[in-house]
Amino acid sequence: ARSTSAPTGGYDFVVVANRLPVDRVTDADGNASWNRSPGGLVTALAPVMARAEGAWVGWHGAPDESLEAFDDGGMRLVPVGLSAEDVELYYEGFSNSTLWPLYHDVIVAPEFHRTWWDRYQEINRRFAEATAAVADHGATVWVQDYQLQLVPQMLRASRPDLKIGFFNHIPFPPLEIFAQLPWRRRVLLGLLGADLVGFQRQSDANNFLRCVRRYLGYTVKAQHIHVQDDDGQPIRTARAEAHPISIDSAQITELARDPEVRARAAEIRSELGDPETVLLGVDRLDYTKGIRHRIKAFGELLADGDLHVGQATLVQVASPSRERVEHYIALREEVERTVGAINGEYDTMSHTAVRYLHHSYPIREMVALYLAADVMLVTALRDGMNLVAKEFIAAHADNRGVLVLSEFAGAADQLRHALLVNPHDIDQLKGAIMEAVRMPGTESARRMRIMRRQIVANDVNRWSRTFLESLEGTKA
Ligand code: G6P
Repeated sequence: ARSTSAPTGGYDFVVVANRLPVDRVTDADGNASWNRSPGGLVTALAPVMARAEGAWVGWHGAPDESLEAFDDGGMRLVPVGLSAEDVELYYEGFSNSTLWPLYHDVIVAPEFHRTWWDRYQEINRRFAEATAAVADHGATVWVQDYQLQLVPQMLRASRPDLKIGFFNHIPFPPLEIFAQLPWRRRVLLGLLGADLVGFQRQSDANNFLRCVRRYLGYTVKAQHIHVQDDDGQPIRTARAEAHPISIDSAQITELARDPEVRARAAEIRSELGDPETVLLGVDRLDYTKGIRHRIKAFGELLADGDLHVGQATLVQVASPSRERVEHYIALREEVERTVGAINGEYDTMSHTAVRYLHHSYPIREMVALYLAADVMLVTALRDGMNLVAKEFIAAHADNRGVLVLSEFAGAADQLRHALLVNPHDIDQLKGAIMEAVRMPGTESARRMRIMRRQIVANDVNRWSRTFLESLEGTKA
């Protein structure tokens, strides 16, 4: 039974994530309310939440503010408060300046600080305690992502009755890189509190299994791990599996059919001065996304005379992200300097080379942009999945458009009919862009049809269902 007042027990399905799936909106009179955040995760889990007695434990995004639990959109929302110092040490520090760069192939150097690690443990404990307080006896708990890797072990210690799943949304690095982490054993033990540890790619799961074998000495057979107690006795089995996440394909397809959205797509093209080719990049402004490589390739194509302003335009949406973290500040400066230099060189009075937008937009506008685009550029240097690539495919029910996709994005495992590139190879990237620009409609439609079938069949609902089915099949 659900308790309506104090958040103590009663919920049989609990999601734990760094962020709550809502954004606060304040109206003109200063009244605050909550809107569901865009994004596939909450879309996929909301129905599961509504069927079961569901609760979501997470941070609401503002520092130094503690909020009571509340009900919204058919689920219990349980805010975990973070002080400004918690944000600095746990979120900007250990999560986004240690783990994020380490897990993304050390594109920038991770920093290792014991004060960050201490706070990471403390905040993971806070999330675990909040979860233990709302989860019913025998409940299923699904912990999300790298910010909360210690939660499974902490939860299992206090609540051995729970069924615990973990999903890592970002890559899990090769052993040779993971090895750098001073607290590598502690992180592995943290994750192995789960019955099922999910990853985006099979290669991520394999990396994890290799680390478990090497640093914990546990027996690993196929995807099964024999977890040991302190005396080295096997006590239970945990599993590591690939469960590639996806998008709400139906929602995107429906928006793409909406006449207003289609009209908006036409309007975008005309606002850009009706170029023959619209190239598009959509990313959080993050150094893992390869935005600089993409802009460099495009600039060189203009310089070489393969593309011309007026004929081709690159629209780059870069949504603001982690704006107080040093490497993000530096990246923004570099991207904006480069865009300014290219536009200064090639723009005409009527047309621009790069239309750069440092904003985030509602999903309707994004679908209009996908429809307006001829060539989508996803050039991540490393990416757990990349849902933008999948959204572009889902939006093109018209089978128009070409996807240039980095082989370093998890999506490349599913979207084999994209033009796959190594974004570090600028000449190859330029070649792929020109191939995309020139590709005959019959060939691009053939590729698009195959990829659409994949995305429509494997949407985010299927992802959550197969993960949860696998988790429920686990015997502790
Ligand atoms: C990635 C991570 C998520 C994170 C999101 C936005 O997709 O896997 O866990 O929530 O980026 O980043 P932010 O730091 O703003 O939550």
